[in-house]
Amino acid sequence: MPDILTHTEGGIATLTFNRLDKKNAITSAMYSEMVAFLQAAQADDAVRVAVFQGHEQVFSAGNDIADFLHNPAAGPEAPVMQFLHAISTFPKPLVAAVAGPAVGIGTTLLLHCDLVYAGDNAAFSMPFVNLGLCPEAGSSLLAPRLMGHVRAAEVLMLGEPFMAETALEMGLVNRVVPPGEVNALAQRQAAKLAAKPLQALMQTKRLMKSGQSAAVQQQIADEATTFARLLQSPEAKSAFAAFLQPR
Ligand code: COA
Repeated sequence: MPDILTHTEGGIATLTFNRLDKKNAITSAMYSEMVAFLQAAQADDAVRVAVFQGHEQVFSAGNDIADFLHNPAAGPEAPVMQFLHAISTFPKPLVAAVAGPAVGIGTTLLLHCDLVYAGDNAAFSMPFVNLGLCPEAGSSLLAPRLMGHVRAAEVLMLGEPFMAETALEMGLVNRVVPPGEVNALAQRQAAKLAAKPLQALMQTKRLMKSGQSAAVQQQIADEATTFARLLQSPEAKSAFAAFLQPR
């Protein structure tokens, strides 16, 4: 089975993470597919909304650690950087359905979505510091703006996980439902968006984001340079070696 499934119907382009044996950890090849999905959804006039979803037990364990060590992101052409650019500038509405663990980019990609629905088992975490790294995907700018500095420090500096109800309170998600219902809810909400005038939606999204769009691109670039440097640190090397130890 492919690691990423895509499907377009009724104006909704849906991407499903489908690498359950590895908790939907994302490899470079998967980032390239995610870029292709977003580019195709942007270019296709028949697509009005894009949806990211996982499985009711897991959204994504974030970067595939082994792949990431073998293919470190090098420059703006790296698949992960291409993905961050594509998702952070995607002009049509973007909806996410999250259940189970959403680690690292599994959480930070949500900061670029317009509507986010969570299963009550959703467990968000951004454990970059615990891995000797720094935040990515613009999260060092977007998380403090969303939840305030002290709460962002708890999740980005202490690396504390948080559950769906807290994410709701923080404004990271719109609604919490049983895990088996989250993908269907996201599709229903996407269908409502797909029925609305597309140009009006796209202009509304652009206007909602225009105050921070340049700053977000700058932050993504700054984070990427810092992340690449920290990846070479002894702390990061030992954290990754520990994860890769046979368990
Ligand atoms: N990269 C590569 N492989 C990963 C992975 C990742 N980020 N996350 C999970 N996997 C793999 C495990 O190595 C394991 O593989 P194996 O069966 O070949 O040994 C498999 O997925 C199942 O993972 P496991 O840890 O046994 O599942 P779990 O249900 O106990 O825990 C998580 C799920 C997501 C909480 C846990 O896997 C985890 O914390 N992963 C690391 C997340 C992370 O640090 N991401 C990087 C952020 S930058």
